[in-house]
Amino acid sequence: MESQRIIFTSDPGRALAELIGGIAFDTLFVLCDTHTREMSFPHIVESLPPSARVIVIDAGDTHKTLQTLASVWAELSQHGATRKSLMLNLGGGMVTDLGGFAAACFKRGIRFINIPTSLLGAVDAAVGGKTGVNFNGLKNEIGAFCPADAVVVSTRFLHTLPHEELLSGYAEMLKHALIDNAETYRSLLDFDLSAPDWDRLLVLLKESVQVKQRIVAEDPFEKGIRKALNLGHTVGHAFESLSHRQERPVPHGYAVAWGTVCELLLSHHYLKFPSETITQLAAYIYRHYGAFPFTCKDYETLYELMTHDKKNEAGHINFTLLKAIGAPVIDQHVDKEQVFVAFDLYRDLFKL
Ligand code: GLY
Repeated sequence: MESQRIIFTSDPGRALAELIGGIAFDTLFVLCDTHTREMSFPHIVESLPPSARVIVIDAGDTHKTLQTLASVWAELSQHGATRKSLMLNLGGGMVTDLGGFAAACFKRGIRFINIPTSLLGAVDAAVGGKTGVNFNGLKNEIGAFCPADAVVVSTRFLHTLPHEELLSGYAEMLKHALIDNAETYRSLLDFDLSAPDWDRLLVLLKESVQVKQRIVAEDPFEKGIRKALNLGHTVGHAFESLSHRQERPVPHGYAVAWGTVCELLLSHHYLKFPSETITQLAAYIYRHYGAFPFTCKDYETLYELMTHDKKNEAGHINFTLLKAIGAPVIDQHVDKEQVFVAFDLYRDLFKL
């Protein structure tokens, strides 16, 4: 598959003006949530035609529902959207996932551009064509693969993000570096995210997004190598779900960071991934993200949560492990006993 068009810029308004100047459309719709309407829309408003129509939805993953989706379709219909209309999705993963799905289905598909406004959205959700909404208590249960016509990535939107949100996205950047190459991985460990040099972050972000872009171009429908992007997510999703069940929710990227350490411990056991790299990464993660605390009483629940992952096949929990940095191995099955050993080792590394 051809690579998706991604524009990296420190001036999103100008990039957007050039981009939409080259597209023939009748009406332009901009989908925002209540937060991005206030914080991000002002950065692009001057680049939009006066006739552009703004649709605002409630912010937060709890609103990533069929009901919100229907409200977007209703607004498109009421305001005369046609197959020639263009939609801009301005927001984090919730807006780009829901907006992408809304556009993919409206009149069987209208064109759309994603403008991610969070680091997590820029490095992951906005790129690669996964769209959808939550349903029946399950995340992203209803959706479709439908890539945006273009993605505009800019650090300009990130200046006002809470540090916790930057760290959450940064965990996905660490993941991309771990599956791709040691040099980028080291640059990420050296970068000072507490006082970001935004131009340098844009360069690192570009390298990171391009890792995903290359993998998705090779395997858009996640039949093979795209599963490498799940590194850290099998255990990470279990941590995230446990944190919600225990009413102490943790951000997605934090759960991925801790999950990555556990999965590298499994990688050491099964594929001889170097233990020095795990110790170094665990120290970095402990310093910046703290620890996800749990006891041996939670092991069975965590394991049970992993068995529900939608990436599993034929009753097996499906892991992506690493032989070395840049050498992922997909479709790995591991023994339950080894998962519990990895939890023990994680708790030692994180002083629990
Ligand atoms: N979030 C991983 C992927 O898009 O495949």
